[in-house]
Amino acid sequence: MLGYNCYLRLEFYAFYNLSLSAVPATPPLAPSPSSFMPTVGERNRNGGSVGVIAGVGGGVAALLLGVVLYIMFYRRRKAKKAAVLPFSEDSTLHATTSSVDKIALSSSQADKSVEFSYEELFNATEGFSISNEIGKGGFGVVYYAEIRGEKAAIKKMNVQATHEFLAELKVLTHVYHLNLVRLIGYCIERSLFIIYEYIENGNLRQHLCGTGYEPLSWAARVQIALDSARGLEYIHEHTVPVYIHRDIKSANILIDKNNRAKVADFGLTKLIEAGNSSLPTRGIVGTFGYMPPEYAQYGDVSRKVDVFAFGVVLYELISAKEAIVRSTESGSSMGLVYLFQEALNAQDPKEGLRRLIDPALGEHYPMDSILKMTVLARACTQEDPESRPTMRSVVVALMMTLSFMDEGVTEREL
Ligand SMILES: Nc1ncnc2c1ncn2[C@@H]1O[C@H](COP(=O)(O)OP(=O)(O)OP(=O)(O)O)[C@@H](O)[C@H]1O
Ligand SMILES: [Mg+2]
Repeated sequence: MLGYNCYLRLEFYAFYNLSLSAVPATPPLAPSPSSFMPTVGERNRNGGSVGVIAGVGGGVAALLLGVVLYIMFYRRRKAKKAAVLPFSEDSTLHATTSSVDKIALSSSQADKSVEFSYEELFNATEGFSISNEIGKGGFGVVYYAEIRGEKAAIKKMNVQATHEFLAELKVLTHVYHLNLVRLIGYCIERSLFIIYEYIENGNLRQHLCGTGYEPLSWAARVQIALDSARGLEYIHEHTVPVYIHRDIKSANILIDKNNRAKVADFGLTKLIEAGNSSLPTRGIVGTFGYMPPEYAQYGDVSRKVDVFAFGVVLYELISAKEAIVRSTESGSSMGLVYLFQEALNAQDPKEGLRRLIDPALGEHYPMDSILKMTVLARACTQEDPESRPTMRSVVVALMMTLSFMDEGVTEREL
């Protein structure tokens, strides 16, 4: 079984090998200084005063030639430098000024372009018609729209906009990543509306439910996991300020026409906090079944809250089950994390796992790859947040899982 730590070790070795190959090969042996010296025989053959005078004269001539050459070279270099320096200094200055201008210009344009009027939204959604409704979530109804030449999803929010809220929204319109649903803009007339790029192929939960979509192949599931992990890693590591999503779930992972994934609603929980300090849920926003114990019990927020929820999504990709599983026989509910823990702690974990694998994957699924994903999901959903991996490590692990699949690595024992 390839454990989680093993992934990290492999990553280290990969890097180490790279460093080794970067070291230049040993240079060919250089001749020693003595090999340039005349041999004793040669010295004897050139002996005598003529040889000494000729040698001294030649030496002086060579020295003079050297001095002349050096002065010529130094002057040319100085002249060349003088020609280049004012130009390069000048051009740097121009480049800086123009890029500052550009930034100022683009941000002033951006501020204007991210604000939409109610009329624009009304026309783009055919008067917020029911036929344009995509769905309804915890924050309000989402409408399909075609606006300013782009397909969009407009979320009519049931929360009020404050200055803090809008400041946060403006920041979010500047965050771009291939695996994050882009925030196009907002409107504050009559109500608060948030405008997102439209992702045409539904969300991951809908795909796993199998209603209206072809079952996802295992390779597509691993790719979706990697895409969403990359989106999350971006907001955890590369934005200023850093964001914690706090509502990672399969319904917030949108799928495009090429079955690639984008994380939706990032920054929204922060908006809700900024705009509604009186909300009773302040401190705890998220979805039941995806919350780690430290967050559900004490409201402790860290990046590891998202890592836990992401682990639940991995279990969903394996089993297609929902984060909370309702037993039809007993009527009781159980968390998916618990269900997997139980299966993996059983006497025959492999058999336990087989029973949880999505039947839509058919008979011939790559067990080895499913095991890797299970190990990763278990690491992500550990009780102790410190023991959970970072999203960066999760991305590395998933990249390796995907590349092993490409190479057709076969099944191994659990
Ligand atoms: N940018 C988008 N492009 C296409 N469909 C979207 C977009 N954003 C949301 N949707 C769809 O609109 C519906 C409602 O989304 P919404 O985010 O409001 O609810 P949710 O994700 O189910 O729950 P939550 O409110 O906790 O995020 C979902 O079916 C979702 O897939
Ligand atoms: Mg959502």
